Order: sequence, then C-alpha cells, then structure tokens
Amino acid sequence: MRSIGVDRRQRQPWQNRPVPDDAVTATARPSAPSVPQWTPGPRELDDLDLLVKHAFDPPLNGFTQPSSTAEELSVTLATSAEAAEVATAVGQLELVDPEGAPLALLTVTGTWPAGDGRVGLAGPVTLIAPNVFGPFRRLYLSPAEVHRDHPADTLLAVAVRRPLSRADIARIDEAARERGKTVLLLVCAGHDMAQGVSGPALVRATRAAAAHVEAPTVVVVVAAADRGDEAGNERLLARVARAYAPETIVLATVEPGAEEVAADLPEDVAAIVSTDRPARDRQGVVFFFTGLSGSGKSTLARALTDSILERGERTVTSLDGDVVRHHLSKGLGFSREDRETNILRIGFVAAEISRHGGVAICSPIAPFEATRAEVRRMVQGAGGGFVLIYVATPLDACERRDRKGLYAKARAGIIPDFTGISSPYEEPADALKVDTTDRDIAECLEEIVDALTVEGWLRP
Ligand code: ADX
Repeated sequence: MRSIGVDRRQRQPWQNRPVPDDAVTATARPSAPSVPQWTPGPRELDDLDLLVKHAFDPPLNGFTQPSSTAEELSVTLATSAEAAEVATAVGQLELVDPEGAPLALLTVTGTWPAGDGRVGLAGPVTLIAPNVFGPFRRLYLSPAEVHRDHPADTLLAVAVRRPLSRADIARIDEAARERGKTVLLLVCAGHDMAQGVSGPALVRATRAAAAHVEAPTVVVVVAAADRGDEAGNERLLARVARAYAPETIVLATVEPGAEEVAADLPEDVAAIVSTDRPARDRQGVVFFFTGLSGSGKSTLARALTDSILERGERTVTSLDGDVVRHHLSKGLGFSREDRETNILRIGFVAAEISRHGGVAICSPIAPFEATRAEVRRMVQGAGGGFVLIYVATPLDACERRDRKGLYAKARAGIIPDFTGISSPYEEPADALKVDTTDRDIAECLEEIVDALTVEGWLRP
C-alpha cells in the first residue's frame, strides 16, 4: 500500500466503482485536478461503442441532450450528481468499462437534469481504447472497417433484430440481386435489443441464415441497444444502417416469438433459437417465496425443493433467509439497507444459478417491493425465469404460532425493526398467492406445484 494518507481503495463520491489497489491516478498529486472516472450503464456503453466507431449517419460525435422532438434520436449519458459536479468542474470525464479499463474521454459541454438525483452530461467523446471483450467482439466492425473491403455503395444494409425467417431471407436475397449488391446483415446485439433470443444467439442465428442467402453476404455486429420505445429503436437502427450503406431495407416488425415467424425459420436457425431459449421446464428459474416471519415460507420452500428433487429432472439450490444469514449475509442486520443488501445478494446468486439452467428456491422475508422487482430484473437479465410466491399467512396467524418466540420479543421491544411489528412488509401484487391459514403443507404445496405446472415451469 502506498503511503499517501488515505486508503486509495476507498470509493470517492464521484466514482461508481472502487479504485483498485494498484491504481495510480492524478489524485496522488494535489496540484493536478483529476479527471473523474465513470462506468456507464449497459445501454450507454453500447451507445459509446457506436459513437467511437462513427456508426451514425448523420454523424454524431458524442452524447447528446435528450431530444426535444420525438423525431430526434437521444444518445444520452447520466451520472451521479457528485460525478457530474467533478466532471463539470474539470471539464472531462473518463468513461471506463465495468472492470475499470478506460474506454473514452468525454469533454463536458452541457448538463441536464436526468431525474432521480442524477445529472445528464453531454459532449464529444474521444476514443482511448476500444472495448475488446464480449462474445463476437471481432465482428463489431466500424463502417470504415467494413468499407475497406466493401465500399458503401456496393452494400445493401439490413438491421437484424430477430432470427431471420425463410421469408425474410427470400426478400433480402431478391432485393440484393435486383440491385446487384452485397448484403450487409447488421446484427443488433446491444443491450436488450435482440427479440426472442439473447444477443450472442442472434449473432449465431444470423450467421446461419447468411449461409442461406444466395447473394454475397457479410455479417457485422452493432451495439445497438434498446431505447425502450419502438419509434426510438427504428430511428436508431435507420441512422446506424445508413452509416454502413446508403441503401437499406427494413424488415417487417413482428411480435417477438410470433408463431408464423417461428414456424418459418430454417432448420439450423430454429435449432440455435431453441438451444438459446429452452422450454420453461428446461430453463433456469428462480422460485422466490416472500412473506412474514413464521408464514411458512421456509417450510413450503423445502417441500417444493424435495418435490423437485424427487422428480429427478433438475438440480435445486435452496437460498433460505435464515440459512443465508449464516454465511452469505453474515453480519447484516435488519435495517432497511441491510435487508436490501441481503436480498440483492440472494438475487445475485439466484440469477447466476438461473443463468446456468438451474433452479434456485429462495425464501427470505424480502419485505420491500422495489428490492423484489430488482431481483426479478437481475434474474430475467441473466436469462432465467422468475416466479414470486407470496405466502400470505396473516400477521395474527404468524404471531399466534410464534414458533421461534420472536414475535413476543418484538412486541416486548427486545427485537427492534421486526417485520410486521416495527418494520413494514409491502404485500406483493404480482405474485402467486398462497394462504396457509387452516391448511396443511401438502395442500399448499399441491396448489403451488399445480400452478407452476400450468405455467410450464414443471413437467406435468
Ligand atoms: S429479510 O427481511 O432480509 O428478507 P430474512 O428472511 O433474511 O429477512 O431473515 C428473516 C429471519 O431472521 C426471520 O425468519 C427471523 O428468524 C430472523 N429475524 C431476526 N430479527 C429479525 C427482525 N428484526 N425482523 C425480521 N426477522 C428477523
């Protein structure tokens, strides 16, 4: 550890990532104002990739203010208020990837209120080093790189957001041959953009589809990320496609997973899709029980675990509230913040289990709606299914049982922040609801298993 008086691993208010032990930054020299670092979110990192590749037409050289008209494209970046304050004072912000590798330098020319205490920063970006990680990164070519071998006017660009069907392939082929052009399939694999498959699977599916196009075809991947609205996505894709080729065609928009498209996929493309998106009973999934202490969550979670193990089709990891607090969350208390940390840890592990096709059964109290929603997002982001099961045993029934004697202690004020007594429980509205009052475990379990079977998560 260098002796500079402070622990340099400590996070500064303007950083959203810890400073690694070996980091040497300008802060060690008090005379030099330091350029703060910031790790953009997934959508922003993708936008940055497009910016540094000059993949917009008309060109865009940096992050913008949010567009004032619906016809304009917003390519925005928001940071914490602290980071924005330092960046504005210094005039620059270094954008780094989640591992801390510098990617680009933003010169701050404007700010805007981004809501939730965050501040938007606008200004041109200059490349420090391209992002080299991520599946198929070698296929993320800039327009200039593509044009070296294929001049723009020899290309017909097609933005691809979903696996190409036979009808799509025929249409692309016909258009390319009519015009005597090379097909440029631009796979839109940015954050949340691919429809019906993961980004990497969309790349695989498009490469497979390319082999079915008779006209000469090139496959390039672009970091076009979901804008959250269809009109915004269309604007983005049109502007990116134009940067690669003056001539473009737009594929028909279909509902993700639309039957007629699924049925029309070439066999090799269909195989890629079904491996990437297995049926629910083979997909990773998190069954997340929530409810008051003593509601019967753990008992039902254990019964469900046993029932799945007895079937022998899947492996199960149990993440029970009390058990997790003995290892993963050892040392955490019951303040709102500690409970959130506890649940997010459980969510992180459960999401990883689901990413690998496993079943995670969680049973913490998880009293806060926002934290449960965050876990749902984490799991779904990892490609897993998420089922919230609310064990809705009323407080008076839980208190009457009081198996561990905790309610009596909470009433006596011996245990503070006790859920239902001196700390809130926010009832979920988006859950499978099971009331255990006057019912035995077997009956409740049957109800849960039936519901999960109807939904396709368990085999009949
Ligand atoms: S959570 O709120 O963070 O989801 P979790 O499920 O991990 O809670 O832990 C709850 C368990 O801790 C309860 O079943 C109970 O045995 C024990 N416990 C101890 N103190 C408290 C408290 N203040 N509130 C709730 N549960 C508590």
